[in-house]
Amino acid sequence: MNHEISTEIFKKAEKYIPGGVNSPVRAFKSVNRKAPIFACKGKGARVWDEDGNEYIDFICSWGPLILGHNPKVVMDGVREAIEYGSSFGLPTKMEVELAQLITKCCPSIEKVRLTTSGTEATMSAVRLARAYTNRNKIAKFEGCYHGHSDALLVKSGSGLLTDGYQDSNGITQGVLKDTITVPFGDIEKLKEVLETKEIACLIMEPVPANMGVIYPNIEFLKDVRELCTKTGTLLIFDEVISGFRLSLGGAQEYFGITPDMTTLGKIIGGGYPVGAFGGRAEIMDLVAPVGRVYHAGTLSGNPVSVRAGFETINYLYNNREEVYKSLEEKVNYIVSNARQLAEKHGAPVVINSIGSLFTIFFTDRKEVNNLEDALSSNTENFAIYFNTMLENGIICPPSQFEAHFLSMAHTKEDLDRALEVMDMAFKKIGDNVNAK
Ligand SMILES: Cc1ncc(COP(=O)(O)O)c(C=O)c1O
Repeated sequence: MNHEISTEIFKKAEKYIPGGVNSPVRAFKSVNRKAPIFACKGKGARVWDEDGNEYIDFICSWGPLILGHNPKVVMDGVREAIEYGSSFGLPTKMEVELAQLITKCCPSIEKVRLTTSGTEATMSAVRLARAYTNRNKIAKFEGCYHGHSDALLVKSGSGLLTDGYQDSNGITQGVLKDTITVPFGDIEKLKEVLETKEIACLIMEPVPANMGVIYPNIEFLKDVRELCTKTGTLLIFDEVISGFRLSLGGAQEYFGITPDMTTLGKIIGGGYPVGAFGGRAEIMDLVAPVGRVYHAGTLSGNPVSVRAGFETINYLYNNREEVYKSLEEKVNYIVSNARQLAEKHGAPVVINSIGSLFTIFFTDRKEVNNLEDALSSNTENFAIYFNTMLENGIICPPSQFEAHFLSMAHTKEDLDRALEVMDMAFKKIGDNVNAK
């Protein structure tokens, strides 16, 4: 497969953009490639690069494209919205429609404020939690990623983990000391932290997906909820990935656990920039202009993005039974077959999946339940997997510590093709293991 044009563009990109990319997760460094592929078109479950190569896409824009690239229902809405104007700096009716729809899908959200990204949503939710509880410190789990605001870039997953570190430089000691981290799944440690009654909120991905996918223990989630209630700590579910993906009401509906606040992103913008934070009205009414917790945004609730989000969620709402059943069936199909292929070739893997997400961890461990388990993965084997897939027309997230995303647009034929190539990748890895 030829990647000359992408490589040329990357040379220019490196000159003008740090690392040549506008988000580090787009770099292909960790999978031993000099340059990423530069995308130019997407349709359904396919994406094309500037060299004209076609790929089955398991990145799906890192989550927003649950209906695939450019689904008609979203494109029609966006075309109409663009005709009326790009942005007004005044409220629009569609923002209200989207807010109402979000509250219908996710009943723990009585009121919701739109932002432009998931990062803004989590940053604002944490500020609000501090104001509501009158406490300064916050808690998070190791390996969870909640965007790139200062307070949340501590023991973080996603791109930091891929590049081999977890705390960003440039954050003051004061901020760092106010963020307490706990290993995912460690209820005793969490108890110790929350029982100080100094913690404003625990922010968590109910299903961690930024150290690779971790399937949470339901009893652990219940214990977390109980502990937060007992200690007066607000529980924030960061459902930027899991929202509208595990079920219409996200992980909270899937597991039947009600958080105090929720943060959303990705799918609620249908591929356009939108985030949101919401929760009980008594909490949300502390946000300006009702209260004094400031949150604002020139492009918050942008009419084009909001229309894309509305059409996406409306589609999910009207087709919920078919959508979530079909996505889960697809994931189960690919994961169960991939497990068999890995076993056939003696390739050591643990495959975690839930909803329409999965991660293949190249590890000798029996299970991957937290950051320490995830870090046991052999990233060289992951690179072999990634490159075999890429060279055979399948694009996966270029990191061991991320999720593969499936969409409604993926067909059985797409999954069968992916399995054919996985067979080749696992054979190479198995042969290497057996040769040692
Ligand atoms: C769970 C979670 N929270 C927050 C964010 C930040 O969202 P954004 O990239 O839109 O700022 C992400 C991004 O991947 C995420 O996965």
